[in-house]
Amino acid sequence: MSVTVLETKNLTHVYSKGTTSQVDAIRDVSVKIEQGELVGIIGHTGSGKSTLIQHFNGLLKCTSGTVLLEGKDIWQNKKNIRDVRFKVGICFQYPEYQLFEETVYKDIAYGPKNMKLSDEEIDRRVRQVISFVGLDESYLEKSPFDLSGGEKRRVAIAGVMAMEPSVLILDEPCAGLDPKGRETVLSLITSYREKTGSTVLVVSHSMEDISKIATKVLVMNNSELAYYDTVDGVFTHSSELYDMGLNVPQLTMLFLKLREKGYDVPVNVYTLDKAKAELEKLLKGGSDE
Ligand SMILES: Nc1ncnc2c1ncn2[C@@H]1O[C@H](COP(=O)(O)OP(=O)(O)OP(=O)(O)O)[C@@H](O)[C@H]1O
Ligand SMILES: [Mg+2]
Repeated sequence: MSVTVLETKNLTHVYSKGTTSQVDAIRDVSVKIEQGELVGIIGHTGSGKSTLIQHFNGLLKCTSGTVLLEGKDIWQNKKNIRDVRFKVGICFQYPEYQLFEETVYKDIAYGPKNMKLSDEEIDRRVRQVISFVGLDESYLEKSPFDLSGGEKRRVAIAGVMAMEPSVLILDEPCAGLDPKGRETVLSLITSYREKTGSTVLVVSHSMEDISKIATKVLVMNNSELAYYDTVDGVFTHSSELYDMGLNVPQLTMLFLKLREKGYDVPVNVYTLDKAKAELEKLLKGGSDE
């Protein structure tokens, strides 16, 4: 049976309430995220993705509604918010801009140090996460400023992983990386989840990337929750997703077009294997007639 790790109940967030620049960034979002899932969070620019994730560890306080972590209201006892932030780790967009220590080791150790862990435990974690992000230990003594863009990104992600959060949240972890860098980051996210069993939430603009790695997809549209379902389930709404201005994968677009032309094909096609099977079915059907 699945266990809920994070839950929001009627979560609403208004920026600059009562002023002329008021923005309703999140409206009435109720969702339950199960332990161990890899959730892709998608939605058009300004749909509320970053605002939503900052509620999961109390960086933002909701205007109304509740956020529950492991069944407990995160704001019930304000003194516990520090623990909530250790349990739910967020890696923001372009996290490499926050690297500042003289060595990679010190940068990764920064979070665990704040948690007041022993030097021995910190050392264990630093060595473990550097391997999680696919870099060898020789990197630990390097200056973060001597690394490539992709390597810096991986070190910054490792810094959040080193806090061993039960929920790891990454906001646009592939932004600005070249295709090879994107591929590396996506695969390190999947293998991190496999190795640790943690719950992972990934905000992304790319439905294609999300369809490759996620077990569940959360779709935000105009500050509201549009869907929360399996990848397959969400892709059954591919036509609606397209209308929301999302980058629907090209393969899916092909099937949407075929359907428009009257062919009896499903619209939740996003892998080559499924596309091949469906096209073969279609061609066979055609020759029988
Ligand atoms: N600090 C802030 N003050 C005022 N308004 C804000 C603030 N942060 C975000 N907003 C507004 O709230 C809405 C939701 O923004 P948010 O950053 O959560 O969207 P997003 O889905 O993460 O967008 P993107 O894909 O561009 O990162 C937008 O209209 C945005 O302009
Ligand atoms: Mg954002």
